[in-house]
Order: sequence, then C-alpha cells, then structure tokens
Amino acid sequence: MKAMQIKKPGGLDNLTSVESDVPEPQADQVRVRWHATSLNYHDYLVAAGAIPVDDGRVPMSDGAGVIDAVGENVSQWQKGDKVMSLFFPNWIDGEASAATTSTIAGENTDGFAQEYSCVSQRSLTTIPDDYSFAEAASLPCAALTAWRGLIVEGGLKAGDKVLVEGSGGVSIFGLQLAKAAGATVYATTSSDEKAARLKELGADEVVNYKEDERWGRTINKMTGGVDHVLDVGGPSTLPQSIEAIGYGGKISLLGVLGGRDATIVLPKVFFKHASMHGIAVGSARMQEDMVSAINVAGFKPVLDKSFALENLADAFSHQESGKHFGKIVVEY
Ligand SMILES: NC(=O)c1ccc[n+]([C@@H]2O[C@H](COP(=O)([O-])OP(=O)(O)OC[C@H]3O[C@@H](n4cnc5c(N)ncnc54)[C@H](OP(=O)(O)O)[C@@H]3O)[C@@H](O)[C@H]2O)c1
Repeated sequence: MKAMQIKKPGGLDNLTSVESDVPEPQADQVRVRWHATSLNYHDYLVAAGAIPVDDGRVPMSDGAGVIDAVGENVSQWQKGDKVMSLFFPNWIDGEASAATTSTIAGENTDGFAQEYSCVSQRSLTTIPDDYSFAEAASLPCAALTAWRGLIVEGGLKAGDKVLVEGSGGVSIFGLQLAKAAGATVYATTSSDEKAARLKELGADEVVNYKEDERWGRTINKMTGGVDHVLDVGGPSTLPQSIEAIGYGGKISLLGVLGGRDATIVLPKVFFKHASMHGIAVGSARMQEDMVSAINVAGFKPVLDKSFALENLADAFSHQESGKHFGKIVVEY
C-alpha cells in the first residue's frame, strides 16, 4: 500500500511517498481502506515542521474510507461500512480530559495519508448520507469544531446572529451550520470575489477586513452586537471579535492564524457580560450528532482543489498560498 510520511526534521520537502504492507486488524480493530483526507491548518503546522513529530509519522488528522476487514471482537461495524476518522481517536464521549485528548491523529499517532490502517472500532463515526469520501473527509476537524463552538457550547438558537471570519474550512462550515439552524450570518473576508462566494452560500452581510480594519465595530453597529463569534485568527481577529460581540454573547476561541498570543481589553469583555470558551475539535458522540444534523439539513461541504496522495506537498503549498476557498482535499 501507499503512504506519505514526514521525515525528520519535517518541512514540505521532507514529505515522502513510501510503500508498505497492508496491516492486519487486532481483535477490537477494524481495517479501513482510506480514500480521502482534507487539509487543516494543524496538518500544515505538522507537515511544515512547526509541530515536531517522530521520524516517519503518517500525517493528516482527517480520513474517510470504507471498512475492509474487522477483528474478531468487533460488533459496531461490518465490512463495507463507510466511515470517517476522529481528530482525537480516544475521545469517544463525555467531557474532554487529558486522557481523552492527548492523542492526536497525524501528530503523535499515525494519521490518514495512507491507503490502509487499523484503528479501534470506537475511533470512527458514520459519514453523512450521499457524501463522497472527499466530502466526508472534510468534516472531522473543521466542521466538528464549528459544530461544537456554535451548537454544543454555544447553544445556538434560531434567530441568533453569528459572525464567522475568513473563508477557510471552519468558517464556511460555521456559516452553513448556522444558516441551517436559522441564524443570521455575518462574515469577513479578504477579497470582494470571496465575499461574493460567501453571499452565494447564504451569508447575510460580508465585510472585507482588508478595506475596513475596524470590521468588528462595523459589524457591531450593523447588528447591535452578535451572539456568537468563531474566532479563527487570535491576535489578528480577537480584538475585533470582542468589538463585534453583543451583550451576553459567546466567542469560541479556536484559531491561531495570526499567532498564539493575543492582547485584549478586559472591560470590553466583562462590561458586555460576554464569555470566551476554548474549543479543540470534539468527541465521537458530537461527530455522530453532527452527522445526524447534516443528514437533516442536507448541505454539502465546499471543496476547493483535489490532489493525489503523492502530491500532498503541492496541496500544502496551495493552502500556504491562501488562494483556497473551503476545503482542499487529497483523494486515493
Ligand atoms: N481549535 C480547534 O479545534 C481547531 C480546529 C480546526 C481549525 N482550527 C484553527 O482555526 C483556524 C482556521 O482553520 P481552517 O482550517 O479553517 O483554516 P483554512 O482553511 O486554512 O482557512 C484560513 C482562512 O482564514 C483567513 N485568514 C488567513 N489568515 C488570516 C489571519 N491572519 N487573520 C484572519 N483571517 C485569516 C483566510 O480567508 P479569507 O481570505 O477569506 O480571509 C484563509 O483562507 C486555524 O488557526 C486552525 O488552526 C482550530
């Protein structure tokens, strides 16, 4: 079988295509023939060497494929079932803990840039009806993060006002999920062309943050303050996210596109009685709930370009360029 591995010290030039034997599942494992993965910013940090990993690590936290063999104790799945992976393979249900979230696929355990692997029968969920493998592979990290921020932790209600930032994977899923739940959605982006596409997807208003650097204040004036923000930029967005939030609103702190350290003006948060909650993806239970919701809502992910497995480095270069809109996928 074919796989991609990261050779020390990492970096896109050290993504290497290898051939290895197809593994056999242990008693409580299933073997999956992976057919697609999608690129997340976390995968980029791993591949680029910014998050150090063991020599030979198979990257990519997202995978979708079909079960191809089952171990003798497997009751949950049958050969032929279509499945997708978990970002945290050990977080099945309940609250997050060190025990459930310290293992991350594609970082400290092998990920899904490979044709076959064996995983615990619990570390998988179903995929939405009528989704291709590429569509399903776009969900486990980005869509689940948006789902958890808005629905699980945010308690989004019909009529709420939601702000999503930029046109990456998390934000477009946030837009689609919020519209499906009956919210009004405000978005920011870097170009008029992307703004038009966000409107086509249902965004009610879009602000170009390159032209309006105080976009948070603009959105607050427009809305009277939003109820939810998915903050993807950290230092590059959080001060404006705080400007945009309304009384009692909720900011999901989930992204580091602008860096890891942010400065905020505390009274702007507490005098609006707003809350900020840290979000790191979600559990298998949350992922299954999200699949059920997508089956009712019926929307499809926005896919950008598709690459072959051995061209994974080109896919990351495309992500690096920032020209993508929605999810970049790799199919095999
Ligand atoms: N905590 C979690 O569980 C979790 C899960 C998934 C992702 N994340 C994080 O969320 C962030 C977004 O991830 P993603 O996978 O959606 O990214 P992505 O698909 O690569 O999209 C990033 C988009 O954000 C916009 N952008 C780029 N740089 C920016 C900046 N400095 N400030 C504001 N906007 C910027 C651009 O869109 P426009 O050109 O339209 O502005 C860009 O296309 C990343 O930091 C990632 O690590 C966190």
